[in-house]
Amino acid sequence: MLKIGNTELKHGLFLAPLAGVSDRTFRNICRRYGAEYTVSEMISAKALCYDQLSRKKAEDSATLDLATVFAKEMPVAVQLFGCESEFMARAARMIEERSYCGCRSDTAPAAIDINMGCPVRKIVGNGEGSALMKSPQIAAEVVSAVKAAVSLPVTVKIRAGWDSVTAPEFAKRIEAAGADMICVHARTREQMYLPGVDLRVIEAVKRSVSVPVVGNGDIYSAQDAIRMMNETGCDGVMIARGALGNPWIFTEISAALEGREYTPPTASERLVLAREHFLLMLEDKQDRRATAEAKKHIAWYIKGMNGAAAARAAVMTAQSSDEIFDIIDGLIRAEDTK
Ligand SMILES: Cc1cc2nc3c(=O)[nH]c(=O)nc-3n(C[C@H](O)[C@H](O)[C@H](O)COP(=O)(O)O)c2cc1C
Repeated sequence: MLKIGNTELKHGLFLAPLAGVSDRTFRNICRRYGAEYTVSEMISAKALCYDQLSRKKAEDSATLDLATVFAKEMPVAVQLFGCESEFMARAARMIEERSYCGCRSDTAPAAIDINMGCPVRKIVGNGEGSALMKSPQIAAEVVSAVKAAVSLPVTVKIRAGWDSVTAPEFAKRIEAAGADMICVHARTREQMYLPGVDLRVIEAVKRSVSVPVVGNGDIYSAQDAIRMMNETGCDGVMIARGALGNPWIFTEISAALEGREYTPPTASERLVLAREHFLLMLEDKQDRRATAEAKKHIAWYIKGMNGAAAARAAVMTAQSSDEIFDIIDGLIRAEDTK
């Protein structure tokens, strides 16, 4: 059992924050298939604060949508990025209190998560994301400012380090500053997404702190998750790329942990979920945006199926939601007549 504030998780199965991917629809689908806790896409604390300067800007802001959390999708953490304590604290408080202009959330999130892992140049160039791992003092100040600003749990997502492994020491600093849980993507910033994760880093972080530690990186099956849990002693696992087009990965892992059989979805089941996923996105976002953003999800669902390459190309160049439905329906019919 893993506890974050008042939230209790039986197995500790987390859907990772994924910019451009872990929107409300994807979070809800992953919850349906066994993710016990999800995290929003990363949100710029500064953007949230600056957008407040004009009511119109605040109400039209893309950030607003990213920060929206509904009670029916809980537990979900809202992830903030930034390196200035003042903005981070202010944004975290506005999210907890739902006091920002145009807020549509009907609940506070389960936690505020702080991004100290993003490797993207645009972010680290500003000293944000994984660049904070080079400045443990600033990182600790950010955590304690956010902690002082909210009554919600404050969690932090880190990497193994910047260009060498510093996570165990770093984790101690941010625990002392008030972090209630630490998630470790066991690669340095320099490694970006290759080579494979070093499980010893997660194990070392687990030994260095007493708050819960969640392991992250390269989990594509129940076997990968169980190996990470067994070899590191981590309290939970967080999955990002392994859930793309495969939210069933959470069902697979919980089945393995409970000693139950797991039957992977058939091609038809995957296509039916792809269709529903798209429909739910259309209900949640404007048609144009949903259509553009759904394309990658659909491509992930159909990966590896017969005719996937041609279908993927057709989806990617489709001009309307109807065109995409026609492609998916064609694939479903082809499966049904097999
Ligand atoms: C498309 C994409 C978007 C991501 N966005 C975020 C993000 O917003 N915040 C964050 O902390 N990590 C983000 N990550 C990193 C993932 O959460 C995760 O740490 C990383 O992909 C390693 O896990 P995996 O091997 O299960 O994919 C992103 C990764 C990808 C591939």
